[in-house]
Amino acid sequence: MLDVARIREDFPILASEVNERPLVYFDNSATSQKPQVVIDALVEFYSRKNSNIHRGVHHLSEVASGEYEASRTKVSQYINASRPEEIVFTNSTTGSINLLADSLSRSYLREGDEIIVTEAEHHSNLVPWQMACERSKAKIRMLPMEDDGSLSVERLKGMIGERTRLLTVSHVSNVLGIVNPVEEIGALASANDVMYVVDAAQSIPHLPIDVNRIGCDFLAFSGHKVLAESGIGVLYGRHDRLLDLPPSQGGGGMVNKVTMERTTYADPPLRFEAGTPNISGALSLAVALDYMSDIGLRDIIEHEEMLTAHMREGLERFEGLQLYGTADPRVPLFSFNIDGIHHYDLGLVLDKMGVAVRTGTHCAEPLMERYGVKGSVRASLAFYNTIEEIDVFFESLEKAVVLLG
Ligand code: ALA
Repeated sequence: MLDVARIREDFPILASEVNERPLVYFDNSATSQKPQVVIDALVEFYSRKNSNIHRGVHHLSEVASGEYEASRTKVSQYINASRPEEIVFTNSTTGSINLLADSLSRSYLREGDEIIVTEAEHHSNLVPWQMACERSKAKIRMLPMEDDGSLSVERLKGMIGERTRLLTVSHVSNVLGIVNPVEEIGALASANDVMYVVDAAQSIPHLPIDVNRIGCDFLAFSGHKVLAESGIGVLYGRHDRLLDLPPSQGGGGMVNKVTMERTTYADPPLRFEAGTPNISGALSLAVALDYMSDIGLRDIIEHEEMLTAHMREGLERFEGLQLYGTADPRVPLFSFNIDGIHHYDLGLVLDKMGVAVRTGTHCAEPLMERYGVKGSVRASLAFYNTIEEIDVFFESLEKAVVLLG
């Protein structure tokens, strides 16, 4: 069992007050809070190690380069990649998917090719593909969700045809919280020789990620969702796929040889890391992943299952509450509306009571359209949240409804 009281001591911000109430932070899907070890690692880097990487022979540059590459190795081990070279550091999930979509639109995608995306994607796993289609004249086809928010592998099977070249799906939707059957979809993609891209932005803080088991060609996530600094992201790419991929950005650090006439590019991953990267971000990600491993994903999952069940029970009992996405399995992330009350007003009143939730479209407008709403309230929990906080959340929600109703 997770010792949550002890763990919370590692996160200084969790002890703070908002509007003279103890903070109840239920906006973890937007960004996670940071443990002291991550904060300390950033201070340590800028106090003792700061230097640019891969560009100097001096001591500090050697230290920073070594730690940056060690972070790459750590990330590769955490997601069970075959080698560190399969990890490209970017600035975010969005940065990773944009890099990939841009490169593929200039190399792999052709006029008339089809890209399958789901109805529940975050804009960051939709808009870059729309842009890639503008460039390559490929087309997007949408896999609709089932009424309970799940994805049907059977329906997907029926959509895959001769022109299907790429299939992309979020591991966990940032609105629904439902865990999609990414391994089953991976087997389908592989059987049909379709490139498979997984957005793991919302699963990385909750579930073990094993790129080999998933069977994906590419996978993206952000550091800030999993306790690290913001501005660091990961694009995992299977090594042979990365070797075939042209760079998306040119600049320093991504070249072999440059003349005025032409340039040859470095091997992956450096081919995709033009310019000075987020060095402290990469280091913070390695520390964050170590922290997750030290706590243990098994205990994290067990605790989060308890939080999920308690939230679900409360939401289902709540009068006039419409929950979006009812399928299982899920992570503790719930979107809902309450009859007759604007989601934005609910968010504001909850904030007055110290409860932080997200309101709006959650960058998933097609999904909002499917539900016929302009937005929703989203409560998203992490392993450092407690049953007591859920009870405060529901008490606050009841008060908010009385005030606004
Ligand atoms: N993608 C983040 C969210 O869903 C920002 O809140």
